[in-house]
Amino acid sequence: MSSVYGENLKLSIFGRSHGPAIGMTLDGIPAGLPVDTETLRIFLDRRAPGNTPWSTARKEADMPEFLDGLLDGHTCGSPIAAIIRNSNVRSSDYDAIKDRPRPGHADYTAHIKHGGFQDASGGGHFSGRLTAALCIAGGLCLQWLDEMGISVRAHILQIGPVKDQGFDPCASSISPVDVSFPTIDPDCGKAMQELIASIKEYGDSIGGTIECIVSGLPAGVGEPIFGGIENRLAQILFGIPGVKGVDFGDDILLGSQYNDAFIYTDGVVKTSTNHCGGILGGISNGMNILFRVRVKPTPSISAEQQTVSLSARETAKITVGGRHDPCIVPRAVPVVEAAAAIAIYDMILGNTQTKRRKG
Ligand SMILES: Cc1cc2nc3c(=O)[nH]c(=O)nc-3n(C[C@H](O)[C@H](O)[C@H](O)COP(=O)(O)O)c2cc1C
Repeated sequence: MSSVYGENLKLSIFGRSHGPAIGMTLDGIPAGLPVDTETLRIFLDRRAPGNTPWSTARKEADMPEFLDGLLDGHTCGSPIAAIIRNSNVRSSDYDAIKDRPRPGHADYTAHIKHGGFQDASGGGHFSGRLTAALCIAGGLCLQWLDEMGISVRAHILQIGPVKDQGFDPCASSISPVDVSFPTIDPDCGKAMQELIASIKEYGDSIGGTIECIVSGLPAGVGEPIFGGIENRLAQILFGIPGVKGVDFGDDILLGSQYNDAFIYTDGVVKTSTNHCGGILGGISNGMNILFRVRVKPTPSISAEQQTVSLSARETAKITVGGRHDPCIVPRAVPVVEAAAAIAIYDMILGNTQTKRRKG
């Protein structure tokens, strides 16, 4: 079941870019948790496409309609079900790709896997649009984590040669991220936007790296071997279309420099550095969880590319039409936050940490 995630909660994502709606069901959530739909709408707006130099011109309000699971502003114990209707579809933009798969997109592999029965319009079920459904679930989990004093925040670390400053891995309060463009340093954000705009001029696209931090997570969350925080985060993060790499902790050669020394801070065990990204043996150590996500360049570019004609069985040229982000990294930032929040909340729900202490 490829579109289902979770050990303790069960998240299912459904829909196609140009179908009637996309949506999600979220099961296993306790009753009585508050839900602020206005906070959720503001979060979903950060992912929605608009008229910016880095985002597709497809305009979609991304307003979720809750079909079940909420009553009087709280979860009511039944599975949460929500949809977002697709209103701004132009399937004619995609007629050509049914025969000529876009290089870098999932058109060819979907065609082979589903024998030609797949919906090619807008990438069908493989579309980045499906991440709006992920963001409904993630936006809810972010609110429930916030109640526990746990925050999740991401920013663009790098696009091309332009690099933002990183989060402080040991800080108790997370650096603010610019609201108009998700970098810590607004000047760096401007340079990134200029770079993306210039790449777009050439009919090309560019990828980048997102950094994400989870603060406030107590020590002891996560399971060993296959149930580790790295495992569970990687599984959901690689479900975001375009994600090609996830890595945790610092790239340091020597153990003497890598190992984080334990210290007591106000009677609590902490570490003086955080090179391991807050995870030891798959389990949180009480420091911030820190990881990076590598996002590839948008596959759909307007420059002419080589492909094949599946009907003629020969090589062919393709010029991709439609509305595409020259860089999906800015819009993927809230998606990474959503994915991380779902994984962390899922692990908290099933945390098997013993409450007994020996000796
Ligand atoms: C928020 C978001 C928006 C995206 N928008 C586009 C887009 O406009 N055009 C495009 O070709 N790919 C877009 N993608 C990426 C493709 O969906 C993705 O590359 C494709 O499904 C193939 O999957 P893979 O790159 O993981 O192999 C987007 C991804 C995300 C996360």
